[in-house]
Amino acid sequence: MASAIYRLIYRSVFAIPSEEAEAERELRAILDASRRNNAASGLTGALLHNGPHVVQVLEGPLAAIEAVFDRIAADVRHTAVELLQFAAVAQPSFPAWSMAYIPQGSVEELALLEPMRNPGGPEAIDAALATLSGALRRDD
Ligand SMILES: Cc1cc2nc3c(=O)[nH]c(=O)nc-3n(C[C@H](O)[C@H](O)[C@H](O)COP(=O)(O)O)c2cc1C
Repeated sequence: MASAIYRLIYRSVFAIPSEEAEAERELRAILDASRRNNAASGLTGALLHNGPHVVQVLEGPLAAIEAVFDRIAADVRHTAVELLQFAAVAQPSFPAWSMAYIPQGSVEELALLEPMRNPGGPEAIDAALATLSGALRRDD
């Protein structure tokens, strides 16, 4: 099963204080690095930012996920990293996105946010991700 796909979802608290413009710049830099690195290592996913919170979905080969999550967990730009799900999946939810960005207040965000705030188990997360990736696809 060398080609098995894993999915890791975590929630954290964005550590950038001060102004919104500064937070926006920092987020942009994170997304740029994510898209560059993830594309190179066969990872896909989505990043959701809501108020102080970040929820990120990472999916791809196990070794690549572990390597990127080691870096992410050690990144001082966020704290209180809390794992929500880490499991093998049949297929990725975001195959076309090295890191999709789900802006605060978007319709897509609502699909994911509630199950993430109040995780109801793997089925709830799967349903939320299906809604979310469907919504993203419609915007292509
Ligand atoms: C919330 C958050 C999400 C991140 N997501 C990713 C990611 O998906 N992929 C990635 O390579 N780096 C991600 N990073 C950045 C890493 O922590 C690290 O800074 C980066 O991988 C270093 O890459 P570079 O050496 O190419 O600059 C994230 C950081 C934060 C704070």
